[in-house]
Amino acid sequence: MNILVIGAGAREHAIAWKLALSPRVERVFVAPGNAGTAMEEKCVNIAPNVDLLKFAKEKECLTVVGPEAPLVEGVVDQFREQGLPIAGPDKNAAHLEASKAFSKRFMEKYGVRCAKSRTFSVFDEATRYVQRCFASKNVPLAIKADGLAAGKGVVVAGTLAEAEGAVSSFMKDEVLGNAGKTLVVEDFLDGREASILAAVGVNNGKGCILPFTPARDHKRRFDGDKGPNTGGMGAIAPVPDFSSAAQADFQTSILEPTLKGLRQEGFDYRGFLFFGLMVKDDRCFLLEYNVRLGDPETQAVLPLMESDFAELCLAVLDGALDKFPLIWKKGAVCAPVAVSDGYPGQYRKGVPVTISAKLAQTGAKLFVAGADLRDGGLFTTGGRVLTVSAYGADLAAALQNAADALSAVAFDGMGFRKDIGEI
Ligand code: AMP
Ligand code: GLY
Repeated sequence: MNILVIGAGAREHAIAWKLALSPRVERVFVAPGNAGTAMEEKCVNIAPNVDLLKFAKEKECLTVVGPEAPLVEGVVDQFREQGLPIAGPDKNAAHLEASKAFSKRFMEKYGVRCAKSRTFSVFDEATRYVQRCFASKNVPLAIKADGLAAGKGVVVAGTLAEAEGAVSSFMKDEVLGNAGKTLVVEDFLDGREASILAAVGVNNGKGCILPFTPARDHKRRFDGDKGPNTGGMGAIAPVPDFSSAAQADFQTSILEPTLKGLRQEGFDYRGFLFFGLMVKDDRCFLLEYNVRLGDPETQAVLPLMESDFAELCLAVLDGALDKFPLIWKKGAVCAPVAVSDGYPGQYRKGVPVTISAKLAQTGAKLFVAGADLRDGGLFTTGGRVLTVSAYGADLAAALQNAADALSAVAFDGMGFRKDIGEI
């Protein structure tokens, strides 16, 4: 069979690579793809101006969507109306990521354990509420823009000045445009974060959710969880402190009520779902849903998947997920991200990237994001340049392999965190 992967990041490179490993898969087309997918076996990049609906029909592709934007725009509905197989949630279900107010209402309606919150669309009411919270010492607060904000939509405010500043910049100054006109103000949750990616096969009020091995992203730019939030500086999988008790709690307090909600809302959700968790004393709280696979979690999780990912996508679409034998490799993966100097702010582009022969000795895989192939060389085009995905028999070995693999990659101004998986 042929596959069409929509997206251009390291996550989509990992998805395309894993799908191409399936003996069932003939070709993986990636729209638009990147320098990594251009070099991957069985993979072909598709020019950005191609009509994907027409293309998928002609090549008889099963389509897999990487990023949230096309899902929120309704690409799944468009493909399904034409009878084309596509893995992703319908547009209604994509609101679980597109609107934090919508997703909080969903969590509360179906009893998914999460932080207490209030939603505001009026500036004065939001300001008065945060003032009351600080007066009663119900602090810090997580102040969240309702709409999509590419990682810039959440401020954890420890002082009243920070909280008032966040409300003002989102609602009055509209720094995020329409995305910040409505706010969710949430109680602070203490604990450690974990990400559970899952396959979802819900349609016509039936179906199931199949969770993957747990992962952990590290969102802040610098070591020790310091500096600005980014799109994710590196991930590990599995997560040693995510115990079997936490796993059982996740099942009953988060997954089961979510499944009930997806069925009862009548969503056609045959795709992937990301649960962003805060875990304390083996109790899980849901911070957010993303209606797709995570980046960089995917680059850590997919290399551990023993099962055939193309078969899994077919099971998602065919209502056969409950019988799917999902098998994980033993061991661990550490997947740090190499970024351009200045990221997540301004950065230079067009910087040459060199990769030494040392990389092969580590067995690590490079998943490319912001880099182009020109005149036989690799040059940066983005802030997130590539992810190194390093396997080890245990987490310590994976961390060592990741460090060795990163030392084989070089570009002027290259930045990365040295503490992925250690913290
Ligand atoms: P979200 O987009 O909702 O996942 O929030 C982005 C990040 O903000 C999370 O990964 C957490 O690090 C932090 N965060 C969000 N909500 C809370 C909360 N209620 N308590 C503590 N930290 C939070
Ligand atoms: N790693 C967080 C995300 O994919 O949204």
